[in-house]
Amino acid sequence: MDVIICPDDATVGRQAAAKIAQVVAAAGPEPVLGVATGSSPLSAYAALAELVAQGRIDLSKAWVFALDEYVGLPLDHPQSYHQTIRRTVTEPLGLDPARVKVPNGAAADLRQAGIDYEAAIAAAGGVDVQLLGVGSNGHIGFNEPTSSLASRTRLKTLTRQTRLDNQRFFDSLDQVPLHCLTQGLGTIRDARHVVLVAAGQSKAEAVRAIVEGPVTALWPGSVLQLHARATVIVDEAAASRLSLADYYREMLANLPGWQKVVW
Ligand code: GLP
Repeated sequence: MDVIICPDDATVGRQAAAKIAQVVAAAGPEPVLGVATGSSPLSAYAALAELVAQGRIDLSKAWVFALDEYVGLPLDHPQSYHQTIRRTVTEPLGLDPARVKVPNGAAADLRQAGIDYEAAIAAAGGVDVQLLGVGSNGHIGFNEPTSSLASRTRLKTLTRQTRLDNQRFFDSLDQVPLHCLTQGLGTIRDARHVVLVAAGQSKAEAVRAIVEGPVTALWPGSVLQLHARATVIVDEAAASRLSLADYYREMLANLPGWQKVVW
C-alpha cells in the first residue's frame, strides 16, 4: 500500500487525479474508471476536470461505474447517487452519459440488479482504476462493518452512523434511506488499481485502521491491504493517527523516478 500525505485537500485531489491519469494513459482508448460519491473525491474531480480541459487526459470513451446507490429513493431524486454522479462527475468531466453506470437501486429485483451490474463491469473489461472515499466507520462504497471481504454487488442495510453522517443531505434522519445497493468488497478488490482519498480529522481513525490495523470486516476498507496496487492519499488531519507517518513521507521523498506520479 502506498500512503501519500498531502498538506491539504486540494493537493489530495491533484495527487489522486495524477494517479488516475497515469493509469488511464496506459489503459488504452476505452479506460474503465470507478467513481465514488461523497465530499472526499470532489477535489479529485476538480483536478481531473482541469486535466481534461488541458487535454492531458482523454475520458471521451471512458466507461464509468459508480460504487453504490440508495434503495428507496427515486432515481431522479436530487440526492440519489444517479443525480449526484451526474452533477459531480459526468457533467464536470464531460463524460458520455451513456457510458456512466450507477447500480439500479430502484430495480424491482435488486438481487438481479446486482448480478447485472457485475456483468456490466465485466463486459467493459473490469475496472482499471477505482477512486474511493471512506466513511467515518471505515466503509468503502456502502460496505458497512462486517461486510464479507469477498462480497459482490448486493443489497446492504446502512448503519445508523452512516445515516447520521449523510443526514446533512436530507431534511431529517427519517428521510435518509435505510438500504442501498453497493458493489461488494470483492468487486472493489477486482479493480486493477485502487485510489482511496480522505481529508479531515473525522477520517483519522478510519485511515489508521485501514492502513495500519489488522485486516478485518469491522473496518471494511482494511481489505485494501490485500490489494497489490492500492494508493491511500490523505491530508495532514486524516493522517494524524498514523504511527508510521514519517516513514510514508520518507518513502515518498525517495521514490525512484520511474515510480513517481507527477502532477
Ligand atoms: C457515502 C458513500 C461512500 C463515501 C462516504 C464518505 O457513504 N457511499 O462511497 O466514501 O459517503 O463520504 P464523505 O466523503 O462525504 O465523507
